[in-house]
Amino acid sequence: MKGIVLAGGDGNRLHPLTLRISKQLMPVYDKPMIYYPLSVLMLAGVRDILIITKPQDRQLFEDHLGDGAAWGIRLTYAVQPEPRGIAEAFVIGRDFVGDDRVALILGDNIFYGHGLEHLLARAAARDTGATVFGYFVRDPERYGVVTFDAGGRAVDLAEKPAEPRSHYAVTGLYFYDNRVLDIAAALVPSARRELEITDVNKAYLEAGALTVEVMGRGFAWLDTGTYESLVDAAQFIRTLEERQGLRICCPEEVAWRRGWISDADLAGLARPMAGSGYGTYLMSLVDEDRRKGGQHARSPE
Ligand code: DAU
Repeated sequence: MKGIVLAGGDGNRLHPLTLRISKQLMPVYDKPMIYYPLSVLMLAGVRDILIITKPQDRQLFEDHLGDGAAWGIRLTYAVQPEPRGIAEAFVIGRDFVGDDRVALILGDNIFYGHGLEHLLARAAARDTGATVFGYFVRDPERYGVVTFDAGGRAVDLAEKPAEPRSHYAVTGLYFYDNRVLDIAAALVPSARRELEITDVNKAYLEAGALTVEVMGRGFAWLDTGTYESLVDAAQFIRTLEERQGLRICCPEEVAWRRGWISDADLAGLARPMAGSGYGTYLMSLVDEDRRKGGQHARSPE
């Protein structure tokens, strides 16, 4: 399965922060925003990932993240000249996806919760159809909204409806079979002149090929689109990391726990960052693992 992180958009709600710097490189406490969605794809077992950015940001992302080899993955880059909609990711990424399945994640979406890896594994294991996630929110009118029937089956999808029929927002994480390429290619722009991801999901729903998993209230799905939500997300990550002494969504740690990079590789990544809490954390993983005789495959529950 291939992965795409969509990290374009104009970020205008965060101006002037994002006048010169991409929103998805903004810090969320101790790491750039894009580390979170990248880690989620890696937790889903995806190792071949396309990052789509604005043209002017591409080099910055490439300088920062490189070809992914240091994290045991492959990163490639493409640009979206204008924010013409989330579903354009599959037009831009068509050759990259080839005849494979693909997971798409929005570069500003943060997920956290017990059992996330399990949920991701289940979605990634489905050979056909699409999987999206419904999450109960106070303000569904800001999102794609999914409605369920009494039996819990998804029956309706709407993009930012003025009068939402449910409180379940569709999160910015999507798993598709290869049909998505043709579905996206045939889309026409919506009234707001975007290729809507909700239209893609509707096509799967109409074909009886859409699975909507509810991401329960024990999960955090965080927004980073405004000054307030950016600070709230950072505070949330800080609170958990300080309490547990475990860092959330470190791609280096995910790669190491999955056995994609060795102890020596992780130590090598940690060393240049030794002056930071992030660097000492990575180093401590290797040290503690040695003390325990190399049991690093399992992360604490
Ligand atoms: O976050 C989940 C929601 O994302 C879904 O519930 C909605 O169905 C979906 O349309 C989308 O809604 P948003 O209003 O959050 O979309 P927004 O335009 O803010 O874009 C989300 C991210 O994707 C943002 O970081 C910018 C990036 N983006 C967006 C568009 C439209 C791109 O890189 N290119 C684009 O063309």
